[in-house]
Amino acid sequence: MADLSALLLLGALSLLGVILYLAIHYSVRPGAKPGGIDDPLRRAFLRYSVLASLVLVLGHAWVGVEEMFRSLTRQIKLEPVYVANLRELEPGSAVSFMMPVDPDMLPADHPCILIRLTPEEAQRAGRELVAYSARCTHLGCIVEYLETDGREIYCPCHAGIFDPLTGNPISGPPKRPLPEVQLRVEEDGSIYAVGWVGQGEQGE
Ligand code: FES
Repeated sequence: MADLSALLLLGALSLLGVILYLAIHYSVRPGAKPGGIDDPLRRAFLRYSVLASLVLVLGHAWVGVEEMFRSLTRQIKLEPVYVANLRELEPGSAVSFMMPVDPDMLPADHPCILIRLTPEEAQRAGRELVAYSARCTHLGCIVEYLETDGREIYCPCHAGIFDPLTGNPISGPPKRPLPEVQLRVEEDGSIYAVGWVGQGEQGE
């Protein structure tokens, strides 16, 4: 998104430069020598050119540095995060934990939620455990798992509701699903968070 806005900015500046050049080229003040050293239009154009060049250079540098930073951070080797033991987690209950990176794989203490689905839910979902970012995709409040009859992931800020089986929004302002955490369950029941779905498994 940042790349797109930078490209749009650079494109707009280039277009503005062309328009300004054409305007100066085809409009000559009465009595003034077009393009002469004392021509205020020429001076304005030169000033604009210097400024536009500076912005273009900074824009390119910004895009490059951001891309480099992202490619570096994507290579972070995420150690598996112990979350809970399956034997201690009742069906229809949840536990909170922290991921050391956010869904873009940038370093951050990112709150998450692990849910052990009820047997009926697990049958529908085809899996027993699910884990998501606990940051609401509307404005970033922390969501909570309501262990009521109609179990749901609820955001207290604006009453957004997400489906615990998929993380998809089902009512309220949120429009995007909660980013999903990739899990691994060991033979002894230990549950580890090993990355973000869509980012590939980062742990060993
Ligand atoms: S921040 Fe969650 S619904 Fe608005």
